[in-house]
Amino acid sequence: MRGYVLALALACAACAPAPFRYVDGAIDDAPSAASPLAAMGDDPAIDSAEAWTERRAPLLRQAFQDWIYGPLPPPAEPRVLQRGAVTIPALADLMTVEQWTIAVTPDPNPLRFNLVLALPPEGPAPLVLAQVFCGNRAAMPGRPEAVAEPLTPVMYPCRAGWTDPIAQAVLGRHINGPPIADLVARGYAVAVMYPGDVVADDAAMAPDALRRLAADPENPPGAIAAWAWLFSRAIDALAADPRIDAARIAVWGHSRHGKAALLAGAFDARIAAVIAHQSGRGGASLTRSTAGESVAQVTEAYPHWFSPRFLTLAEKDYPVDQHLLLALIAPRPVLLGNGDRDAWSDPESAFRAAQAASEVYRLFGAAGLTQAAPRDNAVSGDIGYFLRGGIHGVTSEDWRLFTAFLDAHVGEAAQQN
Ligand code: GCU
Repeated sequence: MRGYVLALALACAACAPAPFRYVDGAIDDAPSAASPLAAMGDDPAIDSAEAWTERRAPLLRQAFQDWIYGPLPPPAEPRVLQRGAVTIPALADLMTVEQWTIAVTPDPNPLRFNLVLALPPEGPAPLVLAQVFCGNRAAMPGRPEAVAEPLTPVMYPCRAGWTDPIAQAVLGRHINGPPIADLVARGYAVAVMYPGDVVADDAAMAPDALRRLAADPENPPGAIAAWAWLFSRAIDALAADPRIDAARIAVWGHSRHGKAALLAGAFDARIAAVIAHQSGRGGASLTRSTAGESVAQVTEAYPHWFSPRFLTLAEKDYPVDQHLLLALIAPRPVLLGNGDRDAWSDPESAFRAAQAASEVYRLFGAAGLTQAAPRDNAVSGDIGYFLRGGIHGVTSEDWRLFTAFLDAHVGEAAQQN
C-alpha cells in the first residue's frame, strides 16, 4: 500500500509546475553526449558498421554489465511446463488466448514465470511481448480468475481490483496492460509476462533468485539485467511456435520494464524492435544528466535493480552512458515514449541520447532520429521519440503512438512495403 500511495504522490507531484516539468529549449543548454564512434580506451575510433559490430559492441556490452547492470545470467534452456487455453470473457469471441508456464532453471523446483499469449486468427503473426507491472491477471480485461496471479508478492492495489479505476484515472488507461483486443485486431500476437514471478521486485527477496540465476553467485545480476534476460527466455519459447513470426518480435516495457526492454534489445539480436516508455535513469536517459532522478536516488530506493558498482560511479566518470545502450540496438528500431510532466524520467536527456545514438544508426545506413525537437513525435523513425503532455503512466494516446511505430516496423503494413 505504501508503494501505491508513494506512486500516486509522485504522479501528483509531477502535475505541479517546475521543477517537475520538462522545459522546452532546455536541450540547447545541456552538454551533449560523447560521440559513440570516438576512441574508447585502447579501442580506436570506429569508422564502419563492421568495426562497430566486431570490436566496439562487445566492449560496450561488457562495460554495461561491469558498471551498471551486473552480468546477465548465462543462456538457459527454458522448459514450457504447462500450456493451455484460458477463457477471458471479454476476448473470447475475438482470439485464442493461452497461458504458459515457463521454467528458467533446470532444478526440480525451478524458477518460473507465467505468460499469457493472445493470438490473431491468421499467422504467423508479429509479436508484441510486454512486461507488466501488476502481473498477468491485472493486465487482462476483467481480471479473469483463469489467469494466474503474480508468483511473488505485489503491492496491494495490484491485487485489489477496486483500485483499477483510480489507477487508470491517474496513471493512464493502460497502466496495468496493453490494449490486447486492438492489437490482435491489427494482426499482432500479444504476450504479457510479469518478470517479478522470477525475480521479485523487492530488495529483500530479489537477491536469492538473482544468485540462483547467476553464473557466479558472488557476482549476481541486478534485477533489471535478470528481467532483460527473461524477455529473451520468453522469446526462446515463443519463437519456436509456428503461429508467431520469429523475425518480427517487438519488446515493450514501461519505466523499470522499459529499462529492461532496452537492455534486452541491446543484448538479443532476435528482438526486431524495442519500445521503452518513460524508462528514465538506467534506461534511455543519460546518466551524466543532472535533471530528473539521480543515480543515488534510484540505487538507494531500488538497491536490487543494478550492480552495486553503479552508485560508486556517481562521483566518477562513467565509462559508458545510455546513448551507447541505444546504439547497441542499431540498426533495429527503437521508440522512446515520454511525458512533459514526467521530469523524474528526464525526457530531455533521453532525446539527447537518441540524437547521439543516431551516429551508429547512420553507420548502418539507417536514419536514426529524424526529428529536430522532442515534440515533433516522429514515431516511425528508426529511433522514434515522442513527448506527449502529462505525467508518468500509460495512456491510450501512448498506445496510439506505440502502434504507429509497430505498424511502421513489424506490423502487417510494414511487411507489405
Ligand atoms: C520509480 C523509479 C524509476 C522507475 C519508476 C517506475 O519512480 O525511481 O527509476 O522508472 O519507479 O518503474 O515506474
